[in-house]
Amino acid sequence: MLRSHWTSRVGFILASAGGAVGLGNIWRFPYMTGENGGSIFILIYLLCVFFLGLPLIISEVIIGKSSQLNPVGAFKKLSGDKVMWQAPGYIGVLTAFIILPFYSVVSGWCLAFLYKSITGVFQSGMTFEQIGSIFKQLTASHFEQAIFLGLFVLMTILIVFAGVQKGLQRWSEILMPLLFLIIIILIVYGLTLSGAKEGIRFLFEPNPQKLTHKSIMDAMGQCFFSLSLGMGAMLTYGSYMERREKAISSCFWVVIMDTGIAILAGLAIFTIIFTYTNEPAQGPGLVFVVLPNIFSQMTGGSFFAVLFFTLLFFAAITSAISLLEVISAFFIDQYNLNRSHAAFIFGIIIFLIAIGCVYSGDYFDFLDKLSTNYLLPIGGLLISLFAGWKLDQVIVKDEFNGKWYSVLYYPWLISVRFICPLLIVVVFLHTHRII
Ligand code: TRP
Repeated sequence: MLRSHWTSRVGFILASAGGAVGLGNIWRFPYMTGENGGSIFILIYLLCVFFLGLPLIISEVIIGKSSQLNPVGAFKKLSGDKVMWQAPGYIGVLTAFIILPFYSVVSGWCLAFLYKSITGVFQSGMTFEQIGSIFKQLTASHFEQAIFLGLFVLMTILIVFAGVQKGLQRWSEILMPLLFLIIIILIVYGLTLSGAKEGIRFLFEPNPQKLTHKSIMDAMGQCFFSLSLGMGAMLTYGSYMERREKAISSCFWVVIMDTGIAILAGLAIFTIIFTYTNEPAQGPGLVFVVLPNIFSQMTGGSFFAVLFFTLLFFAAITSAISLLEVISAFFIDQYNLNRSHAAFIFGIIIFLIAIGCVYSGDYFDFLDKLSTNYLLPIGGLLISLFAGWKLDQVIVKDEFNGKWYSVLYYPWLISVRFICPLLIVVVFLHTHRII
């Protein structure tokens, strides 16, 4: 079967940025920043993006593009069928089965909150407890969660089913500009509020005394999660790139957009938050409890609530499709399944695992930590070793050749051979107090 391709360079960039920009940027990044003391976390995060994220995204996209295959097929083909090198491929597909269910649960909450904000459930003047109890009721109701989660997974299935051009690319091209527009509106609004200064200070004023053991691991996990690295999602998107297309400058664009949007979202959220409270460390409930509360106290708040949850939903759906695409591509390439069967069968399996998450909160937290702090870094470690030591360097040199970034070939090589693996291992050992 002929492989589909993006119709343009911009198509690849927007689809990949769509996959990268998600709940990780707008829900996870702000609450992680809040929990880890603000600016110091952002600084470590940016270092991770530069030293780990960039070299790894380039590696994944080149591996995908040159093999024109899903993660398992790609490592098989490029390693000359070495069993050992199939590990990152299989770990990647497995990780998609872990991330997508809990991702869908949170996305279901977004849809539920979008629905509630449109239908006027958050009325002005409600108390903190009243609004908090709306989120509590939602997370306690298995039925309500199942409905919204089911709706979300169904939409994800339909887009993946529509294929690379008519599904992944087209929806990213529609939703990404809208997403950007909404963030800008929210920032402009946030900057006019009284908490603007405090919010900005929290995000950007150096505060090394707040550095903790856990922050570094959290920043690294966040880097993998936000850039969709370590499990072959970028690899799969790279595999839909035409061979004659150059990959590297597109990777830069994706990293810039993902990192930029995380920081812009942080700016929008913290300027709003500091206008009404002094407590940025609220955990995963930050955007589901604290924000709705603030919206209900603001003039025009219900409008901004609708806007905010629309933003969250757009970000979530373009990322969820990239996760389901990894699984589908694996079964399409390796087992000749057709796209419609793959999307529906595995979409339904994901839905069932997600229902499991709904029934057990601990299980939910476990899946989040297992994937972001363990599986993605391990996947990233193996991918960087593969790109540095095993991949035919003629392929890589050809990508770097002849453009402004040709000087970056050796820095890239040193990164994937030494810096990335070392960094991942050291952060790991340090977090577990081994060194
Ligand atoms: N990057 C997305 C976000 O920030 C989530 C995501 C999509 C992802 N595909 C992935 C995370 C692959 C890890 C691996 O929300």
